[in-house]
Amino acid sequence: MDKIKVLFVCLGNICRSPLAEAIFKDKLKKKNLENYFEVDSCGTSNYHIGDRPDARTITNATKNGVTIDHCGRQLTVKDLQYYDHILAMDKSNHHNILRLAKDESLTSKIMLMREFDTVGKGEEVPDPYYGGERNFQEVFEILDRSTENFLKHLQQTILLKS
Ligand code: 4NP
Repeated sequence: MDKIKVLFVCLGNICRSPLAEAIFKDKLKKKNLENYFEVDSCGTSNYHIGDRPDARTITNATKNGVTIDHCGRQLTVKDLQYYDHILAMDKSNHHNILRLAKDESLTSKIMLMREFDTVGKGEEVPDPYYGGERNFQEVFEILDRSTENFLKHLQQTILLKS
């Protein structure tokens, strides 16, 4: 079976999307599902290419028991072709990703991360860059719920197909 390829996208790729990637990978590991997935994250901007996640993101992830290891990179058209599920952290990212996608086969893969949230469904993952620890923790909790439900959604979809 082909691996399910998941890409998380934000603006800078140093706060929200690498955290979403790390939380999702942590869940896969705990459920012994790692081998079925390929997971990455990137940014719509070129601001932090080659950068490690923001120090506050690393501190927050560690506090919540999640290991984070990523090197910042920018989204490309190839990503849209390669990945099966592309999850945008906010509406601006979502809009910019859709602009890169040329046809329906690509646009149909692109969703807002919080379409999978149980609280504030369809809202944005707020940008914590100009905030403090409270904002980073809020992002963590949103991503923890949203990635959990996204994984459940994938598991149900796969079960229905098999
Ligand atoms: P992210 O947060 O999109 O969640 O990685 C940001 C990181 C950097 C900047 C903005 C948002 N910035 O303007 O450099």
